[in-house]
Amino acid sequence: MNDLFLRACRREPVERPPVWMMRQAGRYLPEYRAVRERADFLTMVGTPELAVEVTLQPVDLLGVDAAIIFSDILVIPQAMGMALSVDEGIGPRFHQPLRTPADFERVRDPSPTEDLGYVLDALRLARRELAGRVPLIGFAGAPWTLMSYMIEGQGSKSFMHAKRLLVQDPGRAHALLARLARAVGAFLVAQVEAGAQAVQLFDSWATALGPRDFREFALPYLAEAVRIARGTGVPVIAFAPGAGWALEEIAAATGADVMGIDWQTDAADARRRLADRPLALQGNLDPCWLYAPPAVIRKRTHEMLAAFGGQGHIANLGHGINPDVPVANARSFVDAVKEWRAP
Ligand code: CP3
Repeated sequence: MNDLFLRACRREPVERPPVWMMRQAGRYLPEYRAVRERADFLTMVGTPELAVEVTLQPVDLLGVDAAIIFSDILVIPQAMGMALSVDEGIGPRFHQPLRTPADFERVRDPSPTEDLGYVLDALRLARRELAGRVPLIGFAGAPWTLMSYMIEGQGSKSFMHAKRLLVQDPGRAHALLARLARAVGAFLVAQVEAGAQAVQLFDSWATALGPRDFREFALPYLAEAVRIARGTGVPVIAFAPGAGWALEEIAAATGADVMGIDWQTDAADARRRLADRPLALQGNLDPCWLYAPPAVIRKRTHEMLAAFGGQGHIANLGHGINPDVPVANARSFVDAVKEWRAP
């Protein structure tokens, strides 16, 4: 059993840092695209056999040290009653984004077992098929990121609709964020009960908020979800890309076991700033360097590993891998981590 990942999460001594990649089960893999030819994205997510097949692909093909269950952060809003489709070239889209007070009243509190049982089934099946080869990571979106997607209805650059709600109707925003924190927390607990050995919270749209608003609308709810998930005893990873300025505050408010570091944040600086905290760090190679030739990927990866120092570090990208990265280059990154030893 390769438990490097879990040991690094707990800051136990490791021979080398473990490595996995955000979005490692994705379109850059021809084997993923082959499954995707037969089924659309939401069918893949909703069919445990297919979800597990692609969950295992990066373990088999690249030799990563952890598997992350193939799913999406938007399954929670979907379970709250919001119709979702994922269109080619557009990405995920809610048919009726939350805009009026009546829209907010239609949203219901999901039951992990009744509404998200297919994710739990996929986790159980993945654990069985992994048979202890590497640990399995579960995940969910953080409340602010989910709420902003529910209001915008699709990806956005300005987040105008979501941010307008914070300004014009903060009470309604706080009420939904509190419900989302409970739903996310309960879902993560259910994922652990189904076999997830660590869980990651993605607050991907933290980047949309300035410090004052991040502290009011994102951080307390991220912290509440982490608090609930930590009750299980498995390591909890908090990742809030774009909020690198707030690493100390996120660590203090959430008590997360592992802090995700985005590619915009200097690795050595993150390490210094969090040195007195009992947590591990995860990240943070800029995924664009996977377009470089293998020797350059290797050099950049080794520099990144040295900056983190080798212990209490999980090697990863500082954002999800791009769909057009050659598989050989992704493998160069994984191999570069595996060959490296702390000086
Ligand atoms: O890391 C993994 O391999 C696990 C699977 C995973 C997916 N999405 C699969 C996916 C995870 C952890 C996510 C998280 C996710 N989903 C986030 C947060 C992390 C991030 O990347 O910022 C967000 C914002 C979403 C919402 C989402 N889902 C978007 C914006 C898109 C479209 C963008 C894109 O890459 O196409 C998706 C679709 C999606 N989720 C795909 C995958 C593999 C592509 C679907 C396809 O095959 O067409």
